[in-house]
Amino acid sequence: MKYKKIVSTEKTPIFIGNSLLITPVFFDLLPNTGKLVLINDSSISSDFLEPLLLELQKRPTTLVHIPLEISETKKTRETKAGIENQLFAAGCGRDTTIVALGGGVLTDLVGFIAATYCRGVPLILCPSTILGMIDASIGGKTGVNTPYGKNLIGAFYPPKAIYMDISVLKGLPQTVFNDGLAELIKHAALTDKVLFEALLKTNPEALRGDFPLLVDMLETSARIKLKITEIDQLESGLRACLNFGHTIGHAIESAAKGRYAHGQSIIFGMITETVIAINKGLCTSETLTQLKSISQQYGFHIKAADLKASDLSAFLRHDKKNKENKIHCSVLSEVGKYWTNDQEYTISVSLEECFDALKEISIF
Ligand SMILES: NC(=O)c1ccc[n+]([C@@H]2O[C@H](COP(=O)([O-])OP(=O)(O)OC[C@H]3O[C@@H](n4cnc5c(N)ncnc54)[C@H](O)[C@@H]3O)[C@@H](O)[C@H]2O)c1
Repeated sequence: MKYKKIVSTEKTPIFIGNSLLITPVFFDLLPNTGKLVLINDSSISSDFLEPLLLELQKRPTTLVHIPLEISETKKTRETKAGIENQLFAAGCGRDTTIVALGGGVLTDLVGFIAATYCRGVPLILCPSTILGMIDASIGGKTGVNTPYGKNLIGAFYPPKAIYMDISVLKGLPQTVFNDGLAELIKHAALTDKVLFEALLKTNPEALRGDFPLLVDMLETSARIKLKITEIDQLESGLRACLNFGHTIGHAIESAAKGRYAHGQSIIFGMITETVIAINKGLCTSETLTQLKSISQQYGFHIKAADLKASDLSAFLRHDKKNKENKIHCSVLSEVGKYWTNDQEYTISVSLEECFDALKEISIF
């Protein structure tokens, strides 16, 4: 079944649907001259990739295809330079359009390449994970990691278009699919109680099998991120609310050294930061109960007995969201509403307050 929905904004249209990349919805936005570069995550299944390559080869542009074995540790300046050299060797100049097909790691990296190659060439993003679709591809952030931290070098570079072709998710391992749903839960918890309640009526396996429902939820979630990032394009205010769960979550992800995936770490973070908000009188324990229950329904752990709070200290002290040496968190005032006092979107938290709250997920 083909299904098409368009979320349109002035600058970057977002298309959501099935088998989109082999239809005119995609081809109509491709150039007719110059080089067309497809850079894809090599984990994308050949069932998806081969028909796409066949179509792209028929186009009047010269196709340069770069399949990339990519992971978080390879999202670096060195990998970027290697790809740029490949593009120069293939004769790519300013009349080049780059199509990035992959998860958030690949779209962040390739987005940054497009932002700087020949001082910027057109970019089309085709996210291939849940997180990539509802989060990483939206908002214009691109970048690479450094030994000093994640995503420290990059640029804001909006793509020409975003294509969320749901059929690419067929090959996605169930664990990766499920982990990405943490960001969907986050978007619902921040601004959309209706979406939160709709999520409570389903589960990851059912959602994967219910195509129209999945498309609807991805669209709603994408719209949430889009709305926030359009209001605050350069991250000077409102956009900070999207960091809900990410201050503690990133510290757990780093301290756990790979034992907890990103989405699972963010779930721990959302729970802990909600306890911080309760302790500061900013939200009620009902919000915590609702968050725990949705997390369990989506197969996430709500206890992490194998970490020590002290393991998190260094990461919390050096969090890039810290201001004047103070840790900052974005929290909820209730499910469906992020906390704000109309000027700020984060609260300042001491290390002791973090440690107290971490007891909730059994980190001592
Ligand atoms: N730019 C932003 O605003 C923003 C926002 C959030 C996250 N991010 C970044 O996103 C990255 C995480 O992205 P992710 O969760 O998509 O991880 P990922 O890109 O590493 O993909 C997860 C795994 O799935 C595989 N994969 C991807 N698509 C597949 C498919 N269709 N079929 C089979 N396998 C597939 C990948 O090879 C990888 O092993 C992080 O680097 C993070 O910094 C960026």
